[in-house]
Amino acid sequence: MTTTTAAEPKQKRPLVYSVRQELPHNRPYDLYYAEKVPLLQVFEKAALAWDNRSRFGILPTLARSIGVRRPMQAAECGIYRGHSLVACLRVARDLRVPVKFIGLDSFAGLPALVEEDLEVAPENAPYRKKVLFDDTSFEAVSELVKSAGFARDAKLIRGFFVDTLPRLQETRYDFVNIDCDLYAPHIECLEYFYPKMNSGGIIFFDDYHSHDFPMAKNAIDKFLEDKPETLLHLRFGPDGTNHTKCYIEKL
Ligand SMILES: C[S@@+](CC[C@H](N)C(=O)[O-])C[C@H]1O[C@@H](n2cnc3c(N)ncnc32)[C@H](O)[C@@H]1O
Repeated sequence: MTTTTAAEPKQKRPLVYSVRQELPHNRPYDLYYAEKVPLLQVFEKAALAWDNRSRFGILPTLARSIGVRRPMQAAECGIYRGHSLVACLRVARDLRVPVKFIGLDSFAGLPALVEEDLEVAPENAPYRKKVLFDDTSFEAVSELVKSAGFARDAKLIRGFFVDTLPRLQETRYDFVNIDCDLYAPHIECLEYFYPKMNSGGIIFFDDYHSHDFPMAKNAIDKFLEDKPETLLHLRFGPDGTNHTKCYIEKL
C-alpha cells in the first residue's frame, strides 16, 4: 500500500469543449458539460420509450436474448467529431437497448448561408466569414466510433443532407438529434425525418435557443407551425448562450 503526503496537483480545466475527447454519459453529470446533458436525458427517455413500445407482450429479457426485436432506430444530423453520437450510443448500451444509429455530416463544415441565415446572423458571427466545423474527418470519426466498440451499431454518412437524405434506406425512426445550426439544413432534416418518426419518437433540437444561430429557431418554428406537436424545453444548470434545449414527441 502506498501513502501520499503531498496533495495531488489539481488538473487544469481545458478551455474549450473539443479538448476533452469524451463526453461522460453517466450521472452525476459534470456542469462543464451542461450544454450536452439535455441530449443525454432525452435520448435516455427515447430509448426507454422504445423499450416499452417494442415488447409486444413478450418478456423483454427473453425478447432481447432471442433477438426478436428490431433495434431502436436513431439518427444524428450534424455529428462533427462524433462525441455526442458516441455518448448516446453509450447510454443505449448501458440500458441494453439495441440501436442502429446513422450519423450524417458533410465532414466539410457548414453549407453556404442562405437568405434566412443572412437576415438574422449576428453581425460578428464567425460563420459569416469562414466555414465552421470543417476541422473533422469521416476517417477520424469512424475510428472514434470503432474504438468505442460501436462499429456495428453506427453508420456514418458523408455529404450534405440535400444529397444524402434522399438516398437513405426507407425506415421509421425512434430518435433524431438535429444539430446543424443553419436554416436550410433544419428544414431539410425536418422534411425528411418528421414523417418517418414512430408515434412517441423524439426529435431533439440542439440549437433552438442558440444565440449564435437564431435561424435554427426560425426554421423549427416555421416547420412546426402547422403540426400538432408542442416543443418541450429543458436545461441542466445555469443558462448560457445555448444551454436550453428542446424536443418534440411525435404524436
Ligand atoms: C455543431 S456541429 C455538430 C456537433 C455535434 N452534434 C456534437 O454535439 O458533437 C454541426 C455540424 O452540422 C454539420 N452540418 C450542418 N449543415 C449540414 C448539411 N447541410 N449537410 C451535412 N452536414 C451539415 C456541420 O458539418 C457540423 O459538423
